[in-house]
Amino acid sequence: MCGIVGYVGGRDACPILLKGLHRLEYRGYDSAGVALVGADGALNVYKCKGKVTDLEHFLEGKDLCGSIGIAHTRWATHGVPNDVNAHPHYSESESIALIHNGIIENYRVLKDALIENGYTFRSSTDSEVLVNLIEYVRRTNDCSLLEAVQQALKQVVGAYAIAIIEKSNPDEIIAARQSSPMVVGLGKDEYFLSSDAASIIEYTEDFVYVNDGEIAVINRHKPLKVVTLDNHESHVDIKKLQLSISQLEKGGYPHFMLKEIYEQPGTLIDCIRGRINADTYEVKLSGVIDNRSKFVDARRIIFVACGTSWHASLIGEHLIESICRIPVEVEYASEFRYRNPIIRKDDIVIAVSQSGETADTLAAVELARKAGAFVFGICNVVGSSIARATDSGAYIHVGPEIGVASTKAFTGQVTVMAMLALAVGREKGTVSEDYYREVSKALLELPATLTEVLEVGGQVKDLAKIFTYAHNFIYLGRGYNYPTALEGALKLKEISYIHAEGYPAAEMKHGPIALIDAEMPTVAIATPDHTYEKTASNIEEIKARGGKIIAVTARGDEHVRKSADYCIEVPVITECLMPIVVSIPLQLLAYYIAVYKGRNVDQPRNLAKSVTVE
Ligand code: M6R
Repeated sequence: MCGIVGYVGGRDACPILLKGLHRLEYRGYDSAGVALVGADGALNVYKCKGKVTDLEHFLEGKDLCGSIGIAHTRWATHGVPNDVNAHPHYSESESIALIHNGIIENYRVLKDALIENGYTFRSSTDSEVLVNLIEYVRRTNDCSLLEAVQQALKQVVGAYAIAIIEKSNPDEIIAARQSSPMVVGLGKDEYFLSSDAASIIEYTEDFVYVNDGEIAVINRHKPLKVVTLDNHESHVDIKKLQLSISQLEKGGYPHFMLKEIYEQPGTLIDCIRGRINADTYEVKLSGVIDNRSKFVDARRIIFVACGTSWHASLIGEHLIESICRIPVEVEYASEFRYRNPIIRKDDIVIAVSQSGETADTLAAVELARKAGAFVFGICNVVGSSIARATDSGAYIHVGPEIGVASTKAFTGQVTVMAMLALAVGREKGTVSEDYYREVSKALLELPATLTEVLEVGGQVKDLAKIFTYAHNFIYLGRGYNYPTALEGALKLKEISYIHAEGYPAAEMKHGPIALIDAEMPTVAIATPDHTYEKTASNIEEIKARGGKIIAVTARGDEHVRKSADYCIEVPVITECLMPIVVSIPLQLLAYYIAVYKGRNVDQPRNLAKSVTVE
């Protein structure tokens, strides 16, 4: 989704802004631009369709002077991706420039009113309406830019993170937020602004997260000031954030996705660190310890999530129901929030989100909190909106995930859910000592297990080459591995653009088997579990109909090998953690097929890393 960067201080703003835009590229975008106030007082806006490198070419030979500026990557919502719709947008008089993430829902009404007052528009965007509204308010009320922003935003319905600079005030950026991320980085006599702290981490470790309904007044000569739309001053809460730059780079891999797949043994060490005692196998999650009675007395747990996080939640459902004996429901956040759901005070709502910024999941959190439920977050990005909006939570600690296709976040989420289930199951007395030890021991051994699993990389690469021809794929799994099948299919479709569907294996006979022919490969997960024999029979049925089968099996499995065309063998660990093992070859298969098809793996078409609009 769209990305925002801003700078005001003593240095040249443009290189900092462009570097920041590069760091935000992973979010997905289709145009980019920059606005600078030069030493001569000119407000220059440069923008174009395409990538940040296209913008850099476009900037060659232009006047890029200025130690204050804002910059943007746009993911089109209102209006096609083109030069005119790219941000920043000038106000009509070209005295103000604005960048905007989000959607102004009532932009038509506001635009009509501005047109009646003589305004004309260059673009089809909702964002240009906002900059003109601010200019109109400023002009008609003869007020300051801050007051104009406050008054204009009171008329706005929707989600936004905005940053504004003005020709006549070359010392100040005004930034505001409602349901879209925004953070201010504090340097020495300089400030940075971004929609993602990681993009400016090389300049500072000190951040102020702007909250919904707040406006940051970022003046190079003054301490940071944060006020509400009603001009009440907010406390400026400075948070420390430490990230290493190497985590934001490819480190010799051709794509972030491949790096992130291969990082998983290490990311799971970070995820588990300090949470399982290697001698006693005791699992300790502070979010559970601090809220013991909530978990022990919970009547029901509802997971809310989207995409991959929703798939991880389906595995969480199995884990919690079997280990804690608490009924669990898994909801698409986007459906839950509009469904008038029944939420009780003794329900726990668990919001799962890698980015912690997904608009629908955030809205589901707000709904659950209003209904009085205890809301727990499982997020990756520290300080993200969902992490801050929940009552408590557990970070997955897998480091920045840059590839659009979620990989290490999925395995981190399932790992945290397994630890959560064990911790709660122990408190409730619903898990046997033997099983508790079996699962926590397997969790401790997971990093080593994943190192072994990754040895299939070469074989999967060869297989991918064979299957690059396919236009459709079916993924089958049962029990804990039904969500893994869904996740495998999602990985393939989002980065290779091959149509793929996941099904519970037993559902095949209820319809999908009609699709099977030599052109429809099936990826079947057939690792040992209590439905293994049945899945093996399903594989035979597909074979009998001429289907091609890639099976993911246990090492040395001879039974499925007889009917599958290809077997990817993986080590076997306790059943409830097998999705973590099995997901690795499925991630690699999707990755290599996409590479063979020449796709942009890290930034697939139309997709955004964090979906901050509905
Ligand atoms: O940041 P979140 O976990 O809330 O994101 C949810 C989905 O948008 C995300 O998982 C998406 O499905 C991924 N691109 C899948 O790889």
